[in-house]
Amino acid sequence: MSSNIPLVSGAQPSTGHLDEFNNDPLALMHRAYEECGEICEFNLGGLHTVLLVGPDAHEAFFRSPDEQLSAADAYQMMVPVFGEGIQYGAPPEIERQQLKMQVKGLKYERMVNYAEIIERESEAFSSDWEEHGELDIYDAFTRLTLKTSTHCLLGTDFRQQLTEEFAGLYHDLEDGLAPSSLTAPYQDAERFRRRDRARERLVELIRERVRLRRERGEAEHDMLQVYMDATYKDGRPLTDHEITGMVIWFMFAGHHTSSNTTAWTLLEIARNPQYKQRLLAEVDALFEDASALTFRGLRDIPLLDGFIRESLRLHPPLNAITRRVMSDWSFKRYVVTAGKNIMVCPHVSHKLPKYFDNPNVFDPERRDSGHLFAEIPFGGGRRKCIGNGFAVLQVKAILSTLLHRYDFSLTAAAESYGEIMPALILRPSDPCTLKYTLRSA
Ligand code: HEM
Repeated sequence: MSSNIPLVSGAQPSTGHLDEFNNDPLALMHRAYEECGEICEFNLGGLHTVLLVGPDAHEAFFRSPDEQLSAADAYQMMVPVFGEGIQYGAPPEIERQQLKMQVKGLKYERMVNYAEIIERESEAFSSDWEEHGELDIYDAFTRLTLKTSTHCLLGTDFRQQLTEEFAGLYHDLEDGLAPSSLTAPYQDAERFRRRDRARERLVELIRERVRLRRERGEAEHDMLQVYMDATYKDGRPLTDHEITGMVIWFMFAGHHTSSNTTAWTLLEIARNPQYKQRLLAEVDALFEDASALTFRGLRDIPLLDGFIRESLRLHPPLNAITRRVMSDWSFKRYVVTAGKNIMVCPHVSHKLPKYFDNPNVFDPERRDSGHLFAEIPFGGGRRKCIGNGFAVLQVKAILSTLLHRYDFSLTAAAESYGEIMPALILRPSDPCTLKYTLRSA
């Protein structure tokens, strides 16, 4: 005999909890958990959404097959951004093959190349800094990781010639995603029209780059090359439209998630100066051997690793991990009926005291929670993030390069640095300014 799923209070007569979700999705999900516990339901303008909290629920969610809990049906808002026929806009069999192509671009030998690129970009980024100054780190890392991502994805030429225009187009694409996109991906509003124009222009730019590279018979070590060389099982190569979609997909998956994690990690380093001496000793040791800042070298920076992991626990970038229920789905004594959405929210579940002692305290040496599905910043199961290695590599390469040269400290009270989630990705609130001082000064 199944039980009714508890309903979250405060639904408005016609729109349910939609306005509350669109204004502050995290506040709604925290309130929902506090009110109802492990499972509850809210209503996003007719889209009934069940929130699951805690490792048992996560495990059941992530281990369910796509045919029953569908990511594609839940994330249709990404289709106008990536393009028809790409990822969630493609049939499952095609999507699987496209994902394999993406994974190919993240193989070890390519990662070594990316590590070098990121290190060079980070050095250039701080090369004209004074002995001391102030920096909005959210803004700075958004710009820096756009350069590193463009460089690793599209190659040196594209990075050097097109950064400004690319940045503007990319901004318009991103602006076409808001919490409201979850329920209405095709809204008739200027920001969505700008999104569509930006995508069209991006196709032109990338098509031209592909044409030139083919014409010159060049082959690079970037993701664009992987897409150009890739073929589906039946031998068909990707079209230019598909190549562009693959590029946008990877930019979206990796850019803000990585830049925000870099910002949060540096912010927590500045907020927790008691670890600084040990952290800097670790980082400096990497530079004693000129060849140490390679992918291999980057693998072993235990305290910095701890800072990144703990930043991802307290400030996970993605907090509305969603599936559409395709056939009735059971969890414990509850049944979620087909047609509803199910969501898991790391920001809520990463603070459960049962798995994390003093959950709101930042502890870079925190012990493992002991449950595989307690900490889920990268999701889990078959759809777990394929870029997690690249993301951590990127954060480490940027921060070790900067920390070797500069000391960072807060410019305002520690508690004044807040969190906001305006476009489905958690980020630091404005301003997010730190002071930097040249270490040898
Ligand atoms: C700190 C940085 C990152 C975080 C927190 C993050 C988080 C996530 C999460 C939570 C998912 C699962 C979504 C779901 O189950 O619905 C995911 C999937 C994915 N991520 Fe990441 N990600 C990060 C960086 C990256 C990077 C750098 C790339 C690419 C280089 C990337 C590529 C992907 C892809 C392609 C998927 C889809 C996998 C699939 O559908 O099977 N991510 N990511």
